[in-house]
Amino acid sequence: ARKTFIAGNWKMNLNHLEAIALVQKIAFSLPEKYYAKVDVTVLPPFTDIRSIQTMVDGDKLLLTYGAQDLSPYDSGAYTGDVSGPMLAKLGCEYVVVGHSERRQYHHEDDELVNKKVRAAIKHGIKPILCVGEALDVREEGRHVPHSCSQLVAGLKGLKAEQVKEYVVVAYEPVWAIGTGRVATQNDAEEVCKALRATIADKYGADVAEEVRVLYGGSVKSGNIGELVACDNIDGALVGGASLQADEFTKLCALAA
Ligand code: 13P
Repeated sequence: ARKTFIAGNWKMNLNHLEAIALVQKIAFSLPEKYYAKVDVTVLPPFTDIRSIQTMVDGDKLLLTYGAQDLSPYDSGAYTGDVSGPMLAKLGCEYVVVGHSERRQYHHEDDELVNKKVRAAIKHGIKPILCVGEALDVREEGRHVPHSCSQLVAGLKGLKAEQVKEYVVVAYEPVWAIGTGRVATQNDAEEVCKALRATIADKYGADVAEEVRVLYGGSVKSGNIGELVACDNIDGALVGGASLQADEFTKLCALAA
């Protein structure tokens, strides 16, 4: 019952004019019939969102969009931050929370990630909660407990219905991000399965059946097929390959 989901995380790339061009190309090259089988979303920088909103609304595009981060607060003296209400007003359906780049470069810990997850849901935005281990943790064989504990911490205080209705989980092993080194089918499935079992344990089997668990890290059109073939991988969070219209469109079509 889980619909395949492909999310393009643009990271800090493309100005609003380039964003318009990319979304137009994706909309033009991905035939409408694919959207029945795969949800496609783009996650641009904040400065692109208004332009994309105008285009998606005006042209009635079937793809959705979201943001890459949000403040845990609704408003106030937080210079440089962008809040959940602002993103909701811009029509964002999703927001990435806890990406490893923010955990690393902005020192975001599980407690802050949890506040952001709750802020997103409070404003009706679906958090894409990112978890995953660095290389040293994998080499020590602790990748499953590490990722599951990030998941439990990120979802703290949520009700089962909220998890079921809003949460998307993304397993992104840090060593696979932007390295060209994709996790093997077995490695990715092992952790995604454990993440789903953790959700079942905490919130019930029916919730775990509904929550989408994505894989992220060097996903391309050449490896998306083997990933979505896994029982517990419902799609992908795509970085580099989401910046090229042809490649991203091909990837979405192959995931459908
Ligand atoms: P790459 O697809 O470029 O490896 O990035 C993955 C990622 O971090 C998506 O959030």
